[in-house]
Amino acid sequence: MCDAATSLLQSGAVQSTEVESQLTSDTQIADSRNEPWQSNLGDLYSAVYTAMPDAEYFEESRYVLRGRLETNGIRPADLFGGKVIVDAGCGAGKFTQAIASFGAKRVIGIDIGEENIAFAKEQAKKVPHGAKIDYRVGSVLNLPVEDASADFVWCNSVGHVTGDQRATVSELSRVLMPNGQLFYYVNGRFGLFEILLKMLVNVMAGVPTPLMRHFLQSLGIGAGRISWIIACIFAPYEFLPRAEVEQLLCENGFTDFRLLTRGIDIDYSEKIARGEPFADLKYGEGQLRYIARRV
Ligand SMILES: C[S@@+](CC[C@H](N)C(=O)[O-])C[C@H]1O[C@@H](n2cnc3c(N)ncnc32)[C@H](O)[C@@H]1O
Repeated sequence: MCDAATSLLQSGAVQSTEVESQLTSDTQIADSRNEPWQSNLGDLYSAVYTAMPDAEYFEESRYVLRGRLETNGIRPADLFGGKVIVDAGCGAGKFTQAIASFGAKRVIGIDIGEENIAFAKEQAKKVPHGAKIDYRVGSVLNLPVEDASADFVWCNSVGHVTGDQRATVSELSRVLMPNGQLFYYVNGRFGLFEILLKMLVNVMAGVPTPLMRHFLQSLGIGAGRISWIIACIFAPYEFLPRAEVEQLLCENGFTDFRLLTRGIDIDYSEKIARGEPFADLKYGEGQLRYIARRV
């Protein structure tokens, strides 16, 4: 698989183009804006997640998780049943609790945001499966989990905001036992969306995040969508090409990758898979959701 990823990289599928060099210069501008994003990241997400109503937190998260797996032919109970699972970068725990509800033996949810974890602990008290969850404040770059102790690591939309995807994947690999499984979702190169997003990041530089959040809330947009919009604008995503993500997985001891190409209606990867008009131009490689096995 490492060879396959290397040849994909060398084949020209991800060669530099004028568009890519434009993206690079835009990224530099975006990264030079005032806010120290990495230190604020936990607070940024906490402010959005902890405003989530219970129906969205519990039922909708179960529905979304189930939909994303079942459209790819995977039953949540088969994937999680009886396993010790680490949810690395769990946010306020909406998917952590969903995973626990699908039959996991134990789930350890870890996030850098202290408010996220405090909120998640309170939410866990509201449902019986909450008793199987152990929440911890910590970084995915230094997980407070022993080596080779997890059957399964879930890392959903985190690797591309840590600032160091290489160190993130290495750490996920460390805590997994041999033959353990990883779910890893990050963005691939994102076509026009990526270019426009970089421009938006530049335009929004200096606008206070709470102002934007309140504005979106006043429009009645759901917390999940707001978190996606806010994160897109205020936490710089790292858009690695698919071949590089696969190379990274391979170099860190993962094999048998499966890219989950299907999803629910709002997923850009699903729009690409359905062949919606101009979807590949608009969304490029889209969202990369993998299931992989630790050697
Ligand atoms: C897009 S959110 C995803 C949250 C959750 N996985 C989900 O799917 O709802 C990204 C999360 O990563 C967390 N995060 C970012 N950098 C982190 C780090 N170095 N260590 C732990 N968590 C981190 C943020 O606090 C935030 O909760």
